[in-house]
Amino acid sequence: MSTIDEIKAKIDIVDLVSEAGVKLRHAGRNYTGFCPFHDNKHTPAFVVWPESGTWRCFGQCNEGGDIFKFVMKREGIPFKEALQKLADRAGVKLESFVAEKPEVKEAYDHLRELLESAIVYYRTHLFNNKDVLTYLHEKRKLTDATIETFGLGYAPHGYDNLLKHFSSKGYSQQDLIDAGLLTVREDDVERSTSNVQRTYDRFRNRIMIPIRDENGKMAGFGARIVDPNDIPKFLNSPETPIFSKGRILYGLDRARKPIRAADQAVIVEGYLDVIALHQAGYENVVSPMGTALTEDQLRLLKRSTRRIVLALDPDVAGQKAVLRGLDAARSAMDREGELGFDARGLLRNEARLQADLRVASMPDDLDPDEIVARDKDEWKRLIENAKPIVTHVMEALAVGQNLNDAKVKNQIAAQVLPLIEDLQTPIERDTYRQALARMLRVDEGSLTGNQPQGLPAKRRPRGTGQSQQGQKAPVVAINPTLKIESYCIGVLFRKPALLYRLDRKLQEFGLSPLAAEDFEYTDHQQVFGVIRMAVEQDEKDHHHYVTTHLPEVVSEVSKDLLAQTEALDPVDDKLLEELLARFLDLRRAYAMSNINQLRFMQEEDQQQGGVNLKIYQEQAVQFTRLLNNLDQAKRKLSSKRQM
Ligand code: UTP
Ligand code: MN
Repeated sequence: MSTIDEIKAKIDIVDLVSEAGVKLRHAGRNYTGFCPFHDNKHTPAFVVWPESGTWRCFGQCNEGGDIFKFVMKREGIPFKEALQKLADRAGVKLESFVAEKPEVKEAYDHLRELLESAIVYYRTHLFNNKDVLTYLHEKRKLTDATIETFGLGYAPHGYDNLLKHFSSKGYSQQDLIDAGLLTVREDDVERSTSNVQRTYDRFRNRIMIPIRDENGKMAGFGARIVDPNDIPKFLNSPETPIFSKGRILYGLDRARKPIRAADQAVIVEGYLDVIALHQAGYENVVSPMGTALTEDQLRLLKRSTRRIVLALDPDVAGQKAVLRGLDAARSAMDREGELGFDARGLLRNEARLQADLRVASMPDDLDPDEIVARDKDEWKRLIENAKPIVTHVMEALAVGQNLNDAKVKNQIAAQVLPLIEDLQTPIERDTYRQALARMLRVDEGSLTGNQPQGLPAKRRPRGTGQSQQGQKAPVVAINPTLKIESYCIGVLFRKPALLYRLDRKLQEFGLSPLAAEDFEYTDHQQVFGVIRMAVEQDEKDHHHYVTTHLPEVVSEVSKDLLAQTEALDPVDDKLLEELLARFLDLRRAYAMSNINQLRFMQEEDQQQGGVNLKIYQEQAVQFTRLLNNLDQAKRKLSSKRQM
């Protein structure tokens, strides 16, 4: 998902609104307060829904929106500025919005071209080196077709082969440095670029593995030793503008379609494992590049599926990393340069991204490539048996322990309970608590009641804190509206012309045409605005108009939207009906939540003397009428669908 989603997820709307001076009171599942945008200090007509991260004033303003809208309105600033403000607050960098300016893009394309030529160069050397080829064929069991497909190569011994080769082709030394193919000698790093810097080939006597971004654009190399005594075992391209380890997943360019087809992505820990699995016909596999899995990487996958399996080496997953992961602060420091999966971080990401993360552990200390070499079908079984993170941690902690020992029970409970507390829903929490109780053979009450020794007291998120979760619970998590919204806007983005037809249908049903207000989220509203403009401009190529007129700030959102709708049913009529049904659902959910809220507020208002009663009643009538119309429309639509 996008940076915007990340910001939404990191900022608690209740905190944000409270800090703007609105005193909020917990009321049911929501919070209410006096609206900061108009002055009525009799009854609190301002409502905040923490679950969806939205707010609404039921009083005079009769307006609502998300965190961005709140800041825009509160401070009278445009979306872009509100976004910047909230990004700062969330500690999220917005640099991606300015990343590929035309001149910059040209420079990047130049680097990518150079890297493509480097693939050819390394390949030539591979086919001239019998030993390395034999190693790939016999030890790694890779076919020529696989070697070709993944563009494997070999960097020869020597310090200036590559420099000579590419200089003769007209590339400058600086180009080669920028592409990460040459390393500047330590004592020359400080010299200005006008002087000739002394450099040497970065990759020597290594198997070269090209790394592409999710679109298949060349980004860098991973390079494995040939001589077992060399270090490090893998050397990657340095971080360059086009190669950022935390933002790329190895193999995703080839895995994207298979991931979508299987509705599942598998993450392994090595380049060669990805390659071997693809060769074995398991193409939904990717790997990070020697660093801990990042949220960005999970997001990349999330564009194609929510079902993600981590195939972990038993050692790492079983004990060390998981235990380390339980200590959130320390793990954050340990993470640099190390492939660790931190259970708590993963759980948070899982919730925030609405993903289904599971763990499959590899048996007998084998790497995935060794498993498929031993028995192709075993891989399938292992992945099918992947366990939810909490189950995995529980079982991993229990391995080899004496579960009759009360001390052991206590230790395990102390490590697993914080994970359980982080879960999103009471049902999940109960389920896992029961499972833990069963495993430890203790009464469930002893897990909920008295917290085991050594377990830090649960922190409350804020002064008013009624939140059920631990402190940094994701804010915008379980929210079906968000999902439907992004589907709807995604389809319209791809096929703006549908907007006309939707409007016509809505009119036939006696409903108002689509408007930005049909979307709760400001970024969706922004995209909708451009789509509306596109169809009104009468441009031939609507989609082109939309993509070229989108404000920079939502360009990243739009990428996600396009990715989500890649597999659209091309039969327009079906699509139109589907879309119409979803919009009716959205309006229905909106009306329902307003009616419920109004009911609640009327009761409160009555206790205060019924100052706002009339406004609330009027609104309730309107929403009820809307609800009836929507239900009628839905019935007509479904009877038509059955015909
Ligand atoms: P492994 O050491 O498990 O290697 O590192 P592997 O992929 O199984 O390689 P083989 O099978 O011995 O040939 C797993 C991954 O961690 C990263 C690489 O991405 C590697 O594929 N890594 C490892 C590094 O980036 N640097 C290192 O020094 C080691
Ligand atoms: Mn391996």
